[in-house]
Formats: sequence, structure tokens, C-alpha cells
Amino acid sequence: MPKILLCVTGGIAAYKVIDLVSSMRKRGDEVRILMTESATRFVSPISFSSVGAFPVYTDAFDVNNGMILHTTLSLWGNILVVAPMTANTAAKIANGIADNLVTMAALAFKGPKIGVPSMNVRMYENPITVENLLKLSKSGWHILEPATGHLADGEYGKGRYPDNEQILFEIDRLLGPNDYKDVNVLVTAGPTREPIDPVRYITNRSSGKMGYEIAKAAKIRGANVILISGPAALSVPYGVERQNVQTAEEMRNAVLERMNWADIIIMAAAVADYKPSAVLNQKIKKRVDEMDIHLVKTKDILEEVSRIRKPNQFVVGFAAETENLLENARYKMESKKLDMIVANDVSHSNVGFDSSYNEVTILCGNNDVIHIERNKKSYIAQNILDIIKSHRVKLA
Ligand code: CTP
Repeated sequence: MPKILLCVTGGIAAYKVIDLVSSMRKRGDEVRILMTESATRFVSPISFSSVGAFPVYTDAFDVNNGMILHTTLSLWGNILVVAPMTANTAAKIANGIADNLVTMAALAFKGPKIGVPSMNVRMYENPITVENLLKLSKSGWHILEPATGHLADGEYGKGRYPDNEQILFEIDRLLGPNDYKDVNVLVTAGPTREPIDPVRYITNRSSGKMGYEIAKAAKIRGANVILISGPAALSVPYGVERQNVQTAEEMRNAVLERMNWADIIIMAAAVADYKPSAVLNQKIKKRVDEMDIHLVKTKDILEEVSRIRKPNQFVVGFAAETENLLENARYKMESKKLDMIVANDVSHSNVGFDSSYNEVTILCGNNDVIHIERNKKSYIAQNILDIIKSHRVKLA
């Protein structure tokens, strides 16, 4: 888990960092919060300690901690984030000034550092600030570009604090292995919906979480990621390009259109195997006691992708089973000529559908069988990427 030194300086966006701390706590990050005196004028240290249950430090000369704060903390953390970073703090750090706990810790810290400048547009565009931020970038700081929009003082321009999602992404990216850099990964996720009439449809049980976690993990590890998603109540992982589709046919068209681009194709979607043979234009009325809906098979996207792929494209399928997990998965893998299949037993209620947890068995082309015990889908996603990497020569 990341050990984050989160330094808050005195900008109006300081209140947005409370939400960042709350997200960090939910993720299980370890955080130490360092505040400048001006930051404490915008947000009370109590707000930070209450939301995160993390220690908050404000005074470099606080003797009650029994340690020299800036040096001890700078050895403890494995990443340092200054959010928001005021023009004043940027100027101080860029020029080696260490006159408060934040600037002292920043100067002493040797690991990856992220600066999140947010300020008035005229302060941000002032050539002195521009030069200071450039100086920080040149010395290894990762300076996030502020967003453009309405600023706290009513002006419009560049200087807004970015989404906390982006900051969390940068933390994970900088601490991650970056081993998927420049690899193009296409992921399908979620269910498809096959309409019966204007208000009804047939679908599969699927939250889309597993596919979204894989897309997110690949992006964090440096990949370019396209996510083709059926209807799912999930937000797009930061930096991932999402294409929304509804039906199996739309998903097929989207995949066929994008697949040439991909080095790795991971088909985690729960595609409907059957659809109504005709879609009615008007709503079906409940005038009869019984009715039949005639279904026809949809096209198997995974089978088609695997059949027409280029030799260096790596194709991974999923198998959701309620019985004979390994036999069924092996059959799918061999009949669809896959490089790898991720099988999960969906008969257990504490993993799989809707759950943030999963337990999977991965069958690989070289006959390796790898079981991953019940764990968070984010963890399973990282493991799936590790296994793909070790089975794919180009990435090794
Ligand atoms: N799949 C697909 N197109 C379909 C149906 C499935 O691409 N029309 C893909 C899924 O994305 C998944 C894999 O095929 O990667 C396995 O899906 P699953 O429904 O478990 O198996 P099926 O091959 O459809 O077989 P069955 O329903 O008989 O278990």
C-alpha cells in the first residue's frame, strides 16, 4: 500500500483535499498530512484528521512528537504530493527555500513527487510561476496541469484544482511498474441488452466491475486502453477511452472496428448469447396469460476475434460457469483457440456478480493452471496482467 506524504498548502482548493483523504482511506493507503500555516486558515487540521484518521502535522518545531518531523516523515513516505500547490510554495521549493514543514519535507524527500498547482489564472500564467513550475518539472517533479474553468474568485481560466481521481491515478502510476508502457489493450466489459420491445430487454447478470478493474490496472501500468462497455453503472477509469454499446451486435461492431489497434484483447463482457428474433416497435400489452419469445443466437465475438486476429495479438477470454468449471473453461479455450481464459465459478454469492470480490482460475496456453484465491477485483486484475505479461513474449 502506498505511504503518502500529503502536503496541503494555503489555496482555496484545500477543502477539496478532504475528499482526496477520504478516498485514500477507503483504498487502504497510509497517509501523513502536512499542512502549512496558511492551509490551516482554509481548512482546520481537525477536518483532515476526522475524515482520514491519519496524523496531521502543522508545526516543524513541534517537540511533542519525539522526532525531527521533516526528516523522519521524508524517510517514511514513498511518495509526496503537494495539493493544492500555491504559487508561493512552488516558488519556495523551486528555489530551495525550506521555511515550513511542507517545504522542509519536500526538500528532504527523495522519492517521486507530485505537485498540483491551483491558483488564480493570472498568478498561474505569470512568467515567474511558469518558470518555477518548469524548474520543478526539470528536477523530477510531476506537475499536474490545472483544469480550465471558473475559478474561486469568479474569473475564468486555467488554474482549477483537477479531479482527485487524476491525483490518485498519478500516485498509482508513479508507484507502479510501468511494464505495460505503449502496449495497446482492448477490454470488453459489462452485460449487453437485447431489446424485446421499446421498454423491455434481455440481459445477463454483470456489473462490469472485473473488466473495468482490468482497464484501470492496465492504464496505471502504462498501457493505452480502450474499454468497450455494455450498460454499467461505473465511472470511466481515469485516462481510459470508453466506448458505450448496448447490444451484442453493437459490441461486435465496436470490437471489430478497434481490434486491429490492439496488442492484447481481453473479453470480460457478459455478452448475451441469444436475442429476440424480432424487436417489436410497440410495447407488448399484457392481454394474454402466456407468451413465447422466439430467440436466435447472437454472434460469438470472442470466437470471431480469435479466428481473424494477427499472429502477435494476445487474446484472453472469460468463462462464467456454475458447474464443471475447469472442463468447461478448457473446452472454451480450445474451441475458441484462446491464449488464456479466466474462469470463475458464479454459483458462489460472495464472489462474482455485483461483488467487488472474485476468485478465479486462469488457464494458459502452455497448460499452466493458476488459481487466485478470493480477493478484491482490483487485486485479481493486477494478477491477470502479471500472468498475461509472463505469457506474452513481447512484454517479457
Ligand atoms: N462471448 C462473446 N460473444 C458472445 C458470447 C460470449 O464474445 N456472443 C465471450 C465472453 O466475453 C467471454 C467468453 O465469450 O469472454 C465466454 O462467455 P460465456 O458466456 O461464459 O461462454 P459461451 O462461450 O457463451 O458459452 P456458454 O454460454 O455455453 O457457457
